[in-house]
Amino acid sequence: MTFRREETVWIPESDLDGMSVDTLAVRAGQIRTGQLEHSDAIFPTSSFVYGSAAQAAARFGGEEPGNIYSRFTNPTVQAFEGRIAAMEGGERAVATASGMSAILSTCMALLKSGDHVICSRGVFGTTNVLFQKYMARFGVETTFVSLTDMEEWQASIRPETRMLFIETPSNPLCEVADMEGLGLLARDNDALFVVDNCFCTPVLQRPLEQGADIVIHSATKYLDGQGRCVGGVVVGSEKMMEEVYGFLRSAGPTMSPFNAWVFQKGLETLPIRMRAHCDNALELALWLEQQPAVERVFYAGLQSHPQHELAKKQQTGFGGVLSFQLKGAREEAWRFIDGTRMISITANLGDVKTTITHPATTTHGRLSPEDKARAGITENLVRISVGIEAVEDLKTDLERGFQALRNESTDNV
Ligand SMILES: Cc1ncc(COP(=O)(O)O)c(C=O)c1O
Repeated sequence: MTFRREETVWIPESDLDGMSVDTLAVRAGQIRTGQLEHSDAIFPTSSFVYGSAAQAAARFGGEEPGNIYSRFTNPTVQAFEGRIAAMEGGERAVATASGMSAILSTCMALLKSGDHVICSRGVFGTTNVLFQKYMARFGVETTFVSLTDMEEWQASIRPETRMLFIETPSNPLCEVADMEGLGLLARDNDALFVVDNCFCTPVLQRPLEQGADIVIHSATKYLDGQGRCVGGVVVGSEKMMEEVYGFLRSAGPTMSPFNAWVFQKGLETLPIRMRAHCDNALELALWLEQQPAVERVFYAGLQSHPQHELAKKQQTGFGGVLSFQLKGAREEAWRFIDGTRMISITANLGDVKTTITHPATTTHGRLSPEDKARAGITENLVRISVGIEAVEDLKTDLERGFQALRNESTDNV
């Protein structure tokens, strides 16, 4: 039996109107084929067939909707797009091959030579490189400012400023931006406000409801949640997403159907995973604050965090990523990391498995020493993406790191 597009059954979005993100995570965007499968189907095909030459012409001409070729139309990818768009409260989503290609596609689709971008300093290191090195080559200049200093944002606005770009909370220092304030600043200056919502996901924060025009994700992180696939997605209005889609169709940084299916299934457990990540991270942050070898902990759930109140207002949870400075320098940070036994030493985050990394020599290693200093990426900084293991077992493993530091100091006596 073969299936035609006409035989697939989309669950009408209107039936889910007003439902919570927990329900949308499980139900939104699903398509059903003539087999009436309960779980989402996967369509690993590069192209689609037509009933006639006239139908092929109508599809290519845009007169008839339907699948053409998986660089720009694939039902599994569309199902994932439909679900994440519903969860973010956006009109439409465009899935991409990676988080970085989601950022690149947004810039290529919506900026032009001569435009100016203002970007927060605390963004993921590769995002910084994309703006500073590559976008600059195409005549798009970027000014980097402190995520939390509104005066610096205001002072950096130019007549040609077309985009404000942030991550909140930031990676790895968990700084929190005032989204409402930045949204207003963007609107007043005819610029787009773009938020990388990778750390919170729509479960904890919905930037489109708080002043953002566009939300970006590295789906590689929490949306998958089990470290299996690389992918990204852009969410926003139909009009803007049509531009991003147009770029994707022409340039091809497309998400594969298999990855889309993995992300689609990942979204189903996202709400319960995010709550487990948040609970474990808060408990670990409080515990780390009490450790004698720790100089400072960065986590928005702590009372000591400078934007704790703002985070409470904007987010429904503080997320699963925290970082801390050890007393000492790179040597101590590396010794601590190497002292752990269970936690994975890897730069990925958002996994159910806890991961640990040294940002200064990994995720932010390509930044110049000056840029690192400005972004607060010190040599004694360690980042943990807290997973969903038993929190007591995580403490046991981190205690091995502290023990390694103590062993070294007694060896030196
Ligand atoms: C906040 C943030 N945005 C974007 C990216 C880039 O995503 P990807 O690795 O999927 O290209 C990352 C990757 O670590 C990230 O942490």
